[in-house]
Amino acid sequence: MSPAGRLAGERVILTGGAGGAGAAAARLFAAEGARLCIFDVDVEAGRALVDELVSVGHEARFHHVDVSDGIQVGEAVAHALQWLGGVDVLFNHAGTVIVRRLIDTSEEEWDRLMDVNVKSMFLTCRAVLPKMMQQGRGVILNTSSISGLTASPLESVYCTSKGAILQLTRAIAVEYRGYGIRCNAICPGFIRTPHGLREMDELTHAGEPVGEAEIRAAQGRLCEPEEVARAALSLVSADMAFVSGAHLVVDNAWQAAT
Ligand SMILES: NC(=O)c1ccc[n+]([C@@H]2O[C@H](COP(=O)([O-])OP(=O)(O)OC[C@H]3O[C@@H](n4cnc5c(N)ncnc54)[C@H](O)[C@@H]3O)[C@@H](O)[C@H]2O)c1
Repeated sequence: MSPAGRLAGERVILTGGAGGAGAAAARLFAAEGARLCIFDVDVEAGRALVDELVSVGHEARFHHVDVSDGIQVGEAVAHALQWLGGVDVLFNHAGTVIVRRLIDTSEEEWDRLMDVNVKSMFLTCRAVLPKMMQQGRGVILNTSSISGLTASPLESVYCTSKGAILQLTRAIAVEYRGYGIRCNAICPGFIRTPHGLREMDELTHAGEPVGEAEIRAAQGRLCEPEEVARAALSLVSADMAFVSGAHLVVDNAWQAAT
């Protein structure tokens, strides 16, 4: 029996899918009929999630990959393409944050953050695009942030990395439209994930308070990981067949008020 759902039979590669909003997307995409390869550095969480998905009848595999490493990405994509038999969706969600004044940021920290947040997407796209071109179809979704659109103190490298993702997204959308490939970005506000909670904590400790009151003023409440996953689902689904080179802000009108 063929699977039902908005992603029925779709072959998905998802980076950063072991935790946070990535894990929420893994559960939702699988429930919508997708077959999944999850790339993440968190082996324990990634394997546990895949076991959970498989135990309820979904098809999923975990790949231990540091997405900033070209060799690891190349090998993992090759294995994923073989197991999936192609790829319909690449969701680049893996990323991290450094909370630091620009003048206190080392060259190594700049390089590491840009590698994990931006180079990673170049690497996965470079590895996946030839297969999508051959298929004449494919969808790429990149996780940026509201920090790719607006700037905030102590996050200059993070904001730079998230802005770069938006330009990479547009460039891919333009360069590969002729192959039936779409590429979009998603820009969440603060999400209730390990990343979001650590960021809020570190900003507060560094003298830029981001507590309950500030979150309420900016975006009403914290965004739940499942809300990002549902927005991501809509962007990768056929409902958005004519949407490419765009970004979707998921922040409950925070950016609209700036
Ligand atoms: N949480 C927020 O408030 C927020 C807001 C806007 C955007 N984002 C973006 O969402 C993405 C992830 O955040 P989340 O909130 O779901 O957080 P999270 O920290 O819970 O999840 C991130 C996942 O990425 C994985 N990861 C990190 N570095 C990796 C690497 N080098 N290789 C492979 N996997 C790696 C982690 O192990 C983890 O499973 C990031 O791109 C982040 O910039 C988060």
